Amino acid sequence: TGLVTLDSGYGNTAAYKSAITYLDGEEGILRYRGYPIEQLAEGSSFLETAYLLINGELPTGDELSAFQNEITQHTLLHEDVKRFYDGFPRDAHPMAMLSSVVSALSTFYQDSHNPFHENQRHLSTIRLLAKVPTIAAYAYKKSIGHPVVYPRNDLGYVENFLRMTFSVPAAEYELNPVVVDALDKLLILHADHEQNCSTSTVRLVGSSQANMFASISAGISALWGPLHGGANQSVLEMLEGIRNSGGDVDTFIRKVKNKEDGVKLMGFGHRVYKNFDPRAKIIKAHAHEVLAALGKSDELLDIALKLEEHALADDYFVERKLYPNVDFYTGLIYRAMGFPTEMFTVLFALGRLPGWIAQWHEMIKEPGSRIGRPRQIYTGVVQRDFVELEKR
Ligand code: CMC
Repeated sequence: TGLVTLDSGYGNTAAYKSAITYLDGEEGILRYRGYPIEQLAEGSSFLETAYLLINGELPTGDELSAFQNEITQHTLLHEDVKRFYDGFPRDAHPMAMLSSVVSALSTFYQDSHNPFHENQRHLSTIRLLAKVPTIAAYAYKKSIGHPVVYPRNDLGYVENFLRMTFSVPAAEYELNPVVVDALDKLLILHADHEQNCSTSTVRLVGSSQANMFASISAGISALWGPLHGGANQSVLEMLEGIRNSGGDVDTFIRKVKNKEDGVKLMGFGHRVYKNFDPRAKIIKAHAHEVLAALGKSDELLDIALKLEEHALADDYFVERKLYPNVDFYTGLIYRAMGFPTEMFTVLFALGRLPGWIAQWHEMIKEPGSRIGRPRQIYTGVVQRDFVELEKR
């Protein structure tokens, strides 16, 4: 049809210009606003990285404190929000609760509906960064039938989230600096990844001038799928499956190669990275450190290491340039921290939030930006005459 070309999965189509994240898939390079991911993971904090992504520059000390203080003022959820959780079934997936409640924020903050109002954009940004950890922790509490824990403003971002997740009235959660530091790093490594499925979703929804809460709720839904952020949950389930059937990684690899029942090696492969995923490199080293520091050994880590080693030596994976991605080792760290498998993708969403926000801002501020509206190649019947029901 005319000039329209088919580009399955948008493998070759740049839908936007962006100055946020630089990604070179051949060289395994990832930079936020020009800063290498390795340096940010080493020296930055999650909120500082969020500031960088959203505002384009690293903050001064004063700017960072102001940003942190402002976020702290908005961590509480309206009491009526708690009633949403009463209505969800106890075994609801926390990603479903997260996207629903984030969408519902637009009912509480109706001042957010005009995306061209700069102050309101700022307020929605702060509210999201502040409230998503609370929403996520409430989802976890709901799933285990515990009372919610209110945010505490004297704690840092990650500390507050961990406490809201793991504290119970009978015992205050003891913050472990190893866990705090590791989670902060993991959030930095997830903070943006240019035009991935969820970010493109945020932009596409936002391009209709829908508000930020609605756009980001859609992004959370996109992230949930096992080919995207849901892969971290699927990796752990895969490793458990291998363990439960005797721990033989080669049998599993054979199944993947034969494409039996569509089985994939979860946590492997990437649309853009064709040599290695720089995030996976950092996370793998980290998995060892964190598990050692927490004094935990995990037979699933041994299975993961073996699985990686055998896959990387196998022609199927070599020919297709399939390497471990960000999701391959994260679940093992989350598990050691005490998170249940179903929360893993929620942690990815917490990390990706500043990226979604930054990309939404960039999209809305781009001069001449247009509504996202892909074309299609029509393959149906071109025309036929309607046949009345009694004649069919
Ligand atoms: N296991 C087995 N085979 C694979 C895998 C895998 N994990 N990934 C790709 N392939 C094969 C695929 O079957 C195809 O083979 P063939 O040419 O014989 O048909 C070839 O490699 C090319 O794959 P593709 O499906 O065209 O690649 P894509 O760019 O469309 O998909 C991907 C990228 C990440 C969805 C895919 O690699 C995948 O499904 N990986 C497993 C899920 C996963 O780990 N996702 C997390 C991605 S990274 C972080 C994030 O986005 O959340």
